[in-house]
This record gives sequence, structure tokens and C-alpha cells, in this order.
Amino acid sequence: MAYTVHPSAIVDEGAQIGDGSRVWHFAHVCAGAKIGRNVSLGQNVFVGNKVTIGDNCKIQNNVSVYDNVALEEGVFCGPSMVFTNVYNPRSLIERKSEYRNTLVKKGVTLGANCTVVCGVTIGEFAFIGAGAVINKDVKPYALMVGVPAKQIGWMSEYGDQIPLPLSGEGQYQCPYTQGIYHLNKNCLEKKLS
Ligand SMILES: CC(C)(COP(=O)(O)OP(=O)(O)OC[C@H]1O[C@@H](n2cnc3c(N)ncnc32)[C@H](O)[C@@H]1OP(=O)(O)O)[C@@H](O)C(=O)NCCC(=O)NCCS
Repeated sequence: MAYTVHPSAIVDEGAQIGDGSRVWHFAHVCAGAKIGRNVSLGQNVFVGNKVTIGDNCKIQNNVSVYDNVALEEGVFCGPSMVFTNVYNPRSLIERKSEYRNTLVKKGVTLGANCTVVCGVTIGEFAFIGAGAVINKDVKPYALMVGVPAKQIGWMSEYGDQIPLPLSGEGQYQCPYTQGIYHLNKNCLEKKLS
């Protein structure tokens, strides 16, 4: 099995793309990009040189994954969401040596039109609502909305809100996956069921 590239897309020589991946219309993948298996790059997606994208990620239309962004496996990037890599850009000041790293961990959803200000880590399976602006690290399973984004709850791996408070003690079993989530102080963890 190999990957497929629409004739209108440009994949620079040297780019690594895993089996089963699909590169759709007008996308551009730079030479240094490392992209896993079964990844979908939607229409007009850009992938920079210093970028890694894990297996089974879905990048919707009009997303630019700039240098110094790393996506672990199973990340969903909603349409027209925005990554950044320079914290304080000025057209007249060269800042290519000042890129800040952004790490998006396994299973995260980045909602449509959200913005991730560079230099943050977004924890496993966190869910970023449409239009949110992320400018701080995000906890695993946190549901974040607004500008700047605030945590309003917890989201299961299945994609439903978990009826537990933001802090305290508690337990919840997902009715779809049977996975069991434990709240301990202000952190949520999934224990294998
Ligand atoms: C977060 C989301 C999944 C809703 O989850 P939910 O569990 O149904 O949450 P609710 O709609 O009950 O919202 C809870 C509260 O957060 C607010 N809220 C929900 N999403 C919000 C968002 N994106 N931005 C700001 N506030 C939001 C609601 O207005 C509500 O506030 P209230 O309690 O004051 O009325 C949904 O709003 C969202 O953003 N989905 C992303 C869609 C997307 O980007 N898809 C891309 C692929 S097409």
C-alpha cells in the first residue's frame, strides 16, 4: 500500500508519508515533513519542513502546520484552525531562530477556526472548542472554549462531556467504550477497563 496525492497537490522530494495517507487538492508538503500512516491532509493544507504528524491524524481544509509543530497520533485539526510558531512576530525583525515548539498529544481535537499560540503542549485527548484561543498548556481530557480558552469540563475519548467537576475526586464510566475515568484533584486519567 502507498499513499495517494491529488494531481493538484505538491509533495516536495524527500517528504516522508506513510501508507494509506491521502493528500487532497492544492496541499503542499515540504521536503522535511514526516507524516505517518492513514493521515488525511485536506484541501489547501500546508505542512512545513520541521513538522511531524502521527498516524491517523485528520487535518481538515485550510490548515497550515508550520515548522516546530508536532502532532502525535490521532489528532483532529478542524477546518481553518491556526498554528503559529513565532510568539511576537515583526515583519522587520528576523525571528526564525526563535520559533517556539507546539506539541499536540495523542487523540486531541482542535475545533474549527481555533488558534494555538506557539509554545504550548496540549494534553492527550483534550478537546478545543471551535474558535478558542489556546495560549497555555492544556491538561489531558480538558474541554477548553473561549478567548482566551478556559476549561469548562472534561471530554471523553469518545467525544462526550464527562459529568465530573473540574477538581475533586470522582469516577465515570463511558457508556460507549466502557473506559473508566478517575478524577484526582484537578487531573483526569483513564484507567483501562
Ligand atoms: C464543545 C462542543 C463539542 C460542545 O460540547 P457540549 O458538551 O455539547 O457543550 P455545550 O454545547 O453544552 O456547551 C457548554 C457551554 O460551553 C459553551 N460553548 C460550547 N462550545 C463553545 C465554543 N466553541 N466556544 C465558546 N463557548 C462554547 C456553550 O455555549 C455552553 O455555555 P453555557 O453553559 O453558558 O450555555 C462544540 O460547541 C464545539 O465547539 N465543537 C467543535 C465543532 C468543530 O469544530 N468541528 C470541526 C469539524 S467540522
